[in-house]
Amino acid sequence: MKQAILPTIKDIKDLKGKRVILRLDFNVPIKNGKIIETMRIDRVIPTIEYLRKKKARIVILSHIGKDASSSLKPVVRYLNKTMNVGFVPDFRTDAARKVADSLPEGGVVVFENLRLDDRETENDPEFSKYLASFGDIYVNDAFAVAHRAHASVVGITKYLPSYAGFLIADEIKHLSLALDPQHPFLFILGGAKFDTKMPLLKKFMKSADHVFIGGILANDFLRDIGLEVGVSVVDSYGFNLTSLLKNGKIILPSDVVVKNEQSKKTAMKHIDEVDVRESIVDVGSETINHLAPIIKKAKLIVWNGPLGYYEGGFDKGTTLLLNAIAESKAKSIIGGGDTAVMVDKLGLADKFTFVSTGGGATLDFLADGKLPGVEAIMKCKKRK
Ligand code: 3PG
Repeated sequence: MKQAILPTIKDIKDLKGKRVILRLDFNVPIKNGKIIETMRIDRVIPTIEYLRKKKARIVILSHIGKDASSSLKPVVRYLNKTMNVGFVPDFRTDAARKVADSLPEGGVVVFENLRLDDRETENDPEFSKYLASFGDIYVNDAFAVAHRAHASVVGITKYLPSYAGFLIADEIKHLSLALDPQHPFLFILGGAKFDTKMPLLKKFMKSADHVFIGGILANDFLRDIGLEVGVSVVDSYGFNLTSLLKNGKIILPSDVVVKNEQSKKTAMKHIDEVDVRESIVDVGSETINHLAPIIKKAKLIVWNGPLGYYEGGFDKGTTLLLNAIAESKAKSIIGGGDTAVMVDKLGLADKFTFVSTGGGATLDFLADGKLPGVEAIMKCKKRK
């Protein structure tokens, strides 16, 4: 497949004094008013800085959380540590217009959570038009929400010349490596939710040379081949997974970490030794050792989803595998979500070819090779 060519902010001739609507994804986890994981913010700073340097007047739009109940205030506080950023608590007021109109060249203002207004997720044309009225140019660098056909992601591109920011361009460039893979290609799939991951599994069963399954998804496979999985969490997808094992590409864990739900004791066991009172909470070290020669030979490794119940502290398998890949010569792509958060926490981000900032957007792009928000930019008719 050909790499997508996107019009980016580098293609905008003159930004001086132009009002730029910059859509970002500041949907970051917040606890007690503090941001727990800043990767999504940090990765769009180059785009903000570029626009500021070119003397654009920047209105930043973002959502946070599922609905109107979350605020972008902690994000604005975080940004204000390194730049001067204003804030508009309700973008539907005359005050919002005044603040935006009086922005100096290089000035930045953030509007409150777009999901204050239901018309955002409904992709309401009037709302898209209203948002567009704050700008001369639209720039989308919100990769993580590019799978949503929302007003500020898709609808707005009907009204303004539209471009991608540096992050979206980078995401598309690197994730596209998985669509036309170099071989040997190892695909690693962990976490849960077969319904969202099955399209990916089916696709990479064809193009990858090896597919390693971990996380809750592995429990389903182990159960379907007739092994005892005790009281492990299973996804219960309702599909007989054994047929997928026929072509020999799938690798399942050979040992696992189990937790006895009565005594709370943990132990490392071979997969045919799991007791009815135990739950599988991680992959074992023998499993990671088995993968070592495959990792060593691989030219491309793409990974989505942790291997164990990492929220409960069972992150050793994921950490071991991340370290093994970090040392390999393969091109390595971490497909977003929880795995990306772990890479960031371990300080390994620069050891991988690319770490995606998306969750659902990354999965959708890997499965379909396109995203509504990216397509909308490419098809925008307002660009000259
Ligand atoms: C994400 O975190 O995946 C994006 O910000 C999209 O959020 P959503 O699933 O609430 O649309």
